Amino acid sequence: MPTVLITGANRGLGLEFVQQYVADGWSIIAFCRDPAKATELNAEAAKNDGRITVDALDVTDFAAIDTAAAKYAGRPVDVLINNAGIIGPVRGDIARQSFGTMDYDAWDRVLRTNTQAPFKVTEAFFDNVMQGEQKKVAVISSTVGSNVEMQAPVFAYAAAKAGVTKTFTTLAAVLRDKGVTVMVFCPGHVKTDMGGEGAGVERVDSIAGMRTLIANWTLEESGQFKRYNSETVAF
Ligand SMILES: NC(=O)c1ccc[n+]([C@@H]2O[C@H](COP(=O)([O-])OP(=O)(O)OC[C@H]3O[C@@H](n4cnc5c(N)ncnc54)[C@H](OP(=O)(O)O)[C@@H]3O)[C@@H](O)[C@H]2O)c1
Repeated sequence: MPTVLITGANRGLGLEFVQQYVADGWSIIAFCRDPAKATELNAEAAKNDGRITVDALDVTDFAAIDTAAAKYAGRPVDVLINNAGIIGPVRGDIARQSFGTMDYDAWDRVLRTNTQAPFKVTEAFFDNVMQGEQKKVAVISSTVGSNVEMQAPVFAYAAAKAGVTKTFTTLAAVLRDKGVTVMVFCPGHVKTDMGGEGAGVERVDSIAGMRTLIANWTLEESGQFKRYNSETVAF
């Protein structure tokens, strides 16, 4: 039975990953900031024979990432999914990531969460990935970080997603010789707390699409940036 590790697993896309992988027979290490409040995730865990391990992890706490990795030392991870992310100030607060009124502390938080944390989680759990059969690492980036497809002036989020795309495409080249496949995703504009009710893509379709891509992604394709529907994202 393969194992998937997912960050930000308590709601949105992370929770949908959990629900689909568990239905498919996988074991899951489901990290979330506050397990005590992760009602839906805990309910999934309760009905699935111990195949979902719910554990606390704030991905901006790098010492906590090291502690978590030490706790799971020796447990193979077939697929590591860096999903946790924040959009930063938006809607009525959008001025805080706009030109002229930027909140640089907010920008720092977005960069740490969306760009540095996936790299840190991947470093910390790399031995687990090497012990897995599939040796796959995914990051949920965004088309908002593409320099070709979009110029949305949400500066902090766009910079952080451009950064994580660049970081993970570079990482793909570094890890190719070790047989590790790195996958960069745009999930589409999905109905979640982040995507909003007006988004055009359902969670179930986004995750089903990305799971199919993860299952079929080859080492030769490592470092590519794909949308959930298998389109290539130009960046
Ligand atoms: N929805 C879209 O349209 C869309 C489009 C492009 C890319 N994405 C990306 O897809 C990923 C998932 O987004 P989503 O739509 O599911 O968003 P969401 O509904 O807002 O969920 C975000 C998840 O990330 C977690 N998270 C945030 N900061 C964290 C931290 N410091 N440590 C641990 N977990 C943290 C949240 O946990 P809490 O509950 O504790 O806050 C939550 O579980 C993100 O990386 C996002 O940028 C989404």
